[in-house]
Amino acid sequence: MAPPLLRVHRLEVRPPGAATSICRDVSFDLAGGERVALVGPSGAGKTTLLRALNGSVAALSGRIDLAGETVNPSATGALRGLRRRIAVIPQKHDLVEPLRVYHNVMAGALGRWSDAHALRFLFWPLAAELGEAQAALERVGLGDKLRARAGTLSGGQQQRVAIARALVQRPLLLLADEPVASLDPRLAHQALQLLCRLAEDDGIAVICSLHQPDLARQYFPRTIEMEAGRLVGDRTRDARPQTVPAAPAMRQERAARLA
Ligand SMILES: Nc1ncnc2c1ncn2[C@@H]1O[C@H](COP(=O)(O)OP(=O)(O)O)[C@@H](O)[C@H]1O
Ligand SMILES: [Mg+2]
Repeated sequence: MAPPLLRVHRLEVRPPGAATSICRDVSFDLAGGERVALVGPSGAGKTTLLRALNGSVAALSGRIDLAGETVNPSATGALRGLRRRIAVIPQKHDLVEPLRVYHNVMAGALGRWSDAHALRFLFWPLAAELGEAQAALERVGLGDKLRARAGTLSGGQQQRVAIARALVQRPLLLLADEPVASLDPRLAHQALQLLCRLAEDDGIAVICSLHQPDLARQYFPRTIEMEAGRLVGDRTRDARPQTVPAAPAMRQERAARLA
């Protein structure tokens, strides 16, 4: 049998400055293309687990295998290779607001570019690079924002730029940390629907921490639950192939079109 895309084995994480371990004995597998919601009360350790998975905080012990390769979670040398295959959408968007949208989108390509390439892109982007940014922006419905300053976009639009940046990275795994926490319910549905549909189209696995259990149920066939640093639940709803439900607003639009 093929190995899972991600295997987390007895991971223990104690970030610098923390007196005790924040994640303990965390083990789970994730298949390629699988979508999982990570739920649990505030302070449960969701953000810390996601940070350990993307290598931004070292683990104290345990093992992370990605695509059949063991990544020593406490070795910083492994981080660049690991990060290249894992895209991150943080809770608070982390766009560079004074720069243009295409700069932010193509930040997803930095892992495969040299420093000299990145510097040249900042001042003299090539047509092919702008074309790649444009294609990603069209997929998130922002085809007209290529040259806008990132800081002039609304919160929902900035979140979609972060999704476009993740797509440009061509990751195996996308980690989203409460990506809709700052959006109103309608925009939250639309953002999750978009995120899940694009991940499904590209075969990208997703781990998405969420506060709202109803959103977790609606968009994620599997839910992992954390409490006080430990996994306390792991449920897969059914064995049908994963498909993304339409967001409510889109359903209405579709109904209106059909009427
Ligand atoms: N670097 C750190 N130093 C000290 N405490 C930390 C650190 N990072 C996280 N914590 C603590 O770990 C607990 C879990 O945090 P977090 O992973 O952010 O949980 P969640 O995302 O589920 O709300 C919290 O009590 C938080 O204060
Ligand atoms: Mg958190």
